[in-house]
Amino acid sequence: MVNKAAKPTDALIGHDAWNIQLDNNGHLKHFLTTEGLGSNILTQILDTAENFTDINEKSIKKVPLLRGKTIVNLFFEPSTRTRTTFELAAKRLSADVLNINISTSATSKGETLLDTLQNIQAMHCDMFVVRHSDSGAAHYIANHVAPNISVINAGDGRHAHPTQAMLDMFTIRRNKGPDFGNLRVAIVGDVLHSRVARSQIHALNTLNTGDVRVIAPKTLLPVGIENMGVNVFHDLETGIQDADVVIMLRLQKERMAGALLPSEQEYFQLYGLTEEKLRAAKKDAIVMHPGPINRGVEIDSSVADGSRSVILDQVSYGISVRMAVMTMTLGREPEKNDNGSGSHTDNMDDKP
Ligand code: NCD
Repeated sequence: MVNKAAKPTDALIGHDAWNIQLDNNGHLKHFLTTEGLGSNILTQILDTAENFTDINEKSIKKVPLLRGKTIVNLFFEPSTRTRTTFELAAKRLSADVLNINISTSATSKGETLLDTLQNIQAMHCDMFVVRHSDSGAAHYIANHVAPNISVINAGDGRHAHPTQAMLDMFTIRRNKGPDFGNLRVAIVGDVLHSRVARSQIHALNTLNTGDVRVIAPKTLLPVGIENMGVNVFHDLETGIQDADVVIMLRLQKERMAGALLPSEQEYFQLYGLTEEKLRAAKKDAIVMHPGPINRGVEIDSSVADGSRSVILDQVSYGISVRMAVMTMTLGREPEKNDNGSGSHTDNMDDKP
């Protein structure tokens, strides 16, 4: 029986959380977190996305891989970039897409999350793309949906944002080649509130990145961050020294409960990326940011718009990576008898 009073919380993200991501054959069924997935799956996402990049650059950007499938964007939190790239990805795969903005819809009328889900499920959809402000929400939904439905986490609280992390890995691979072993990747800023940083760190470590660094004031780092396999710095120029990749994070003011920072100006003085500070990194270092950027807070406009910036490429690659995740998770026949052994034939035969 479903406990209707249950609410997604951090406690729901247990140690076996990632196990539900794979079916009995080891294929991706849901994509909820990069944590715990093997390098084979992460590399498969990157390789599949590589094929879709060609399609996205053609004049006719459509393939029939998910024709007849229905994908529902369930956004409990506002988003522009992520929602629109998921929508474009689905449309380029010929799926039908429904956008439901829950914050202005049913739950504001008192309906529980599960009731909302069950109603949408009754419309016979194949995938939920979920964004929610509670950590654990996507896992919670994946644990409660009908067995034929795949769930993609489009960002849950501070916990995970796996498609963003994979489009970031894709951007790094495109610019720096497939061997992450010699790379120094520096993640700068509000790691404490960042689901993007957590998903990036897991993915970078799974892909055997040589040196993963985080750079932030102590107040913007989670306790025990060292245990995630990163080297911690508090000084920007020391931290990005000889880095191949510098990833800037947005100051997530909407998630800050108290005063964690003296002022935005002071933050920019110490942690804002300027052309001058970027000189500490390698000459060919790339600068990334998941967006939306706060110009003059975490990044200077001249860097955001400069020749090292790949911020807009990240957005473009986001479509290919989301197409890859959608086909990998839906590339299975609807399960007739929930044994997780749905075959990977059907529409995957005409994979690009
Ligand atoms: C990120 C998010 O929402 O987690 N942005 C995004 O997905 N484009 C990062 C952020 O909001 O700072």
